[in-house]
Amino acid sequence: MKHTSSPRRILAAGACALAALLLAGCGPSSESSGPGGQGDSGQGKVLLIGFAQVGAESAWRTAETRSIMEEAVKRGLDLNFADAQGKQENQIKAVRLFIAQGVDAIILAPVVETGWEPVLQEAKRAGIPVVLVDRGIKVADESLFATLIASDFVAEGRMAAEWLATKTGGTASIVELQGTPGAAPAIDRKKGFADALTSGMKIIASQSGDFRRTGGKEVMEALLKVHPNLTAVYAHNDDMALGAIQALEEAGKKPGTDVLVVSIDGVKDAFEAMVAGKLNGTVECNPLLGPLALDAVLKAVQGETLPKRTIVPDRLFTMDMAAAELPNRKY
Ligand code: AHR
Repeated sequence: MKHTSSPRRILAAGACALAALLLAGCGPSSESSGPGGQGDSGQGKVLLIGFAQVGAESAWRTAETRSIMEEAVKRGLDLNFADAQGKQENQIKAVRLFIAQGVDAIILAPVVETGWEPVLQEAKRAGIPVVLVDRGIKVADESLFATLIASDFVAEGRMAAEWLATKTGGTASIVELQGTPGAAPAIDRKKGFADALTSGMKIIASQSGDFRRTGGKEVMEALLKVHPNLTAVYAHNDDMALGAIQALEEAGKKPGTDVLVVSIDGVKDAFEAMVAGKLNGTVECNPLLGPLALDAVLKAVQGETLPKRTIVPDRLFTMDMAAAELPNRKY
């Protein structure tokens, strides 16, 4: 397979991907790294990486995509990018295509936790290492992936609940907006939050908004009709929280004041909402995984054994910290 375009092409294709291309072949970077460079296989061939991304459901996700693409360009690697539009079957097809293309490694941000064995066995048989980013999977045989680089989603959920417990004195009627069913962050953030609730904190409704702003808004609109007396919203990501804030305002409520809102991700829009007094807190989940992911890819291609998990540290930001922090936000 011939790859002839410049590194810039990767970014251009990234934009196409964000416009929902299932599979965009992103060009190579032969001009950026000569033999022996970081992106070189050691045999005078530029490494080709396949990146199977979940989609573009949130600002967090597009920041992650950009980080990995930019890092590939920096290191002179070729990158083929696939946007699965939130569907596991698309992602499995993309991984199979990468295998057929003979990529040197695959970066996979899995949509959901289960159902990966067959395609990962195919990658293993083809001798292609798979680096998981941001979301974990459940497989009996962990040799099917080289490493996982991700946040601790259970800890994130716990942090959100502990903050809410302190803020409310341990009494709250909570609406939970869950992420995509079956996705590791939805499962783990639900668990971490539930584990840290005090006896006076009740989840009165819990529904999926699929990690999307529109999802958060629609679910909140529907739940407000049944639970107008809610006192808090816990959203598994900022985009859903921002959608919920809109719904609360349209229903005549004051998010941030008469309904407390806490979420996860730490995107710029969330900081703006905190500065505006509408979002009370967000747990940062760092999407800028490009450097760590590409380090892992290069090591895996060289046959190095990697730690099975690298945990990316997170922290909570509250409304009172937002104005000072906003100028530093990178995503
Ligand atoms: O896997 C990370 C989660 O996926 C982010 O919190 C969310 O915004 C994204 O869609």
